[in-house]
Amino acid sequence: MPSNPALTAAWTHLRGLPRATLTELFAADPKRLALLSARLDLPGGGLRCDWSKTHLDAAHLAGFTALAEAAGFDAAREDLFGGAVINVTEGRAAEHTAQRGVGKDTSVEEAAALHARMASLVNAIHGGALGEVRHLIHIGIGGSALGPALAIDALTRDLALVDVHVVSNIDGCALEQAFAACDPATTLIAMASKTFTTIETITNAQSALAWLRENGVSDPYGRVIALTAAPDKAVEWGIDETRVLPFSESVGGRYSLWSSIGFPVAMAIGAEGFAEFLEGAATMDRHFRDTDGVANLPLRAAFADQLYTRLLGCQTRACFAYDERLALLPSYLQQLEMESNGKSVSKTGEPLDGPSAPITWGGVGTDAQHAVFQLLHQGTVLLPVDFIAVIAPGDDLDPAHHRILLMNCFAQGAALMAGKSAKDPARAYAGNRPSATMLLDELNPAALGALIAFHEHRTFANAVLLGINPFDQFGVELGKSIANAIEKGDASFDASTEALLAEAGLK
Ligand code: F6P
Repeated sequence: MPSNPALTAAWTHLRGLPRATLTELFAADPKRLALLSARLDLPGGGLRCDWSKTHLDAAHLAGFTALAEAAGFDAAREDLFGGAVINVTEGRAAEHTAQRGVGKDTSVEEAAALHARMASLVNAIHGGALGEVRHLIHIGIGGSALGPALAIDALTRDLALVDVHVVSNIDGCALEQAFAACDPATTLIAMASKTFTTIETITNAQSALAWLRENGVSDPYGRVIALTAAPDKAVEWGIDETRVLPFSESVGGRYSLWSSIGFPVAMAIGAEGFAEFLEGAATMDRHFRDTDGVANLPLRAAFADQLYTRLLGCQTRACFAYDERLALLPSYLQQLEMESNGKSVSKTGEPLDGPSAPITWGGVGTDAQHAVFQLLHQGTVLLPVDFIAVIAPGDDLDPAHHRILLMNCFAQGAALMAGKSAKDPARAYAGNRPSATMLLDELNPAALGALIAFHEHRTFANAVLLGINPFDQFGVELGKSIANAIEKGDASFDASTEALLAEAGLK
């Protein structure tokens, strides 16, 4: 990889481009900000993206555009939206956009029908069909938990129609914490698992049923809603099919927030709010589908990603949300980007000839400034940073809070780029450190939907430029099967593992 001569030529050209510093780039082009920033209008306010503090310039944009062409980006994008079998290793399409109404007609229709069913159930529950419901314990893991947790945390700071607790870890401490906050008589359980086989989710759900039973709920199964692409398994497990909300097998786990996996989000913000969330994502889908070249925001973000990871050897990329409501965004992006693109072979199985996904990490500003930013400013690694901020505050306190928050966000990008010389080397800042900024007008369901969809498409665009399949995740299987073998007690391991098992009384 790459065996395609046009692709090789595009990479060679990109590698040969001159590398100016960020301040030189600004000095060389008075129109740099206009060239490298853009605004996209969304149903719930706009999103501004600014890549001018990255090392992209006109020559790189042209070079990466040629690379995208050589990588077959247009055709790959058409296949994504057309419902073609692009998850080649698993023989499936990847139809998360159809959940938002943008995709193959039949898939869009099927998703709309399933959403209508979910909305009816949500409205019925809000209307009292299952008695008084004050709490919802949502049990799922990975893609069946991270999206709902992010969306609920981001969108229900002021008011949640139902108090939702997302529990993922098999560690019983997580579930016990949710139990402690809920009244069993007014609690529903959402059991979210695409496959309906995941041991953490099944075990947690069994314990939740036991908790309901032990606390006087006469029909615990009647309090469970299943969210799954394997509805037969949910029914077999004991859940009445009227409370099974299915979704299509062609929606990947980490892309499933838009399907019935979003049920707890709809419970918390209402079915209408959930529809706005889908529409925000659909706006980004249409932008990504219909916009060519560098005006395409997720594609341009992928150009910056490839510049740093592939051309400049950066092993990590950080995302700092300067908004408490987006505190869970970095962990959501970790699964999205690392599970999608953390691969070593191309979609046709050849070893990659360079790095794939960097490690995604991050945190929330301003907290992170007082913890990890030392390394960003003076450490020895080149580390591209994304800042994400929202102009309208999420709090009702003195506006000073939000002003200081935003000023700090913008100050960090400026400081990373400009640096500062000093006689004392310990007090000098080299500068020339890249960052990109995404600035939302407001954080509402539509804007959040668009922000998440932006990152999904950025991840897809990166995969196309790298020639990999972002929709499988075989890397997670080996550890699971070894854990199963330990459980069965019929396998032997290396001396270290055997000793640990013995020490913990597991063998
Ligand atoms: O182990 C990884 C994974 O398969 C993720 O891709 C997925 O989001 C998660 O487990 C949960 O899977 P499920 O929704 O089938 O329980």
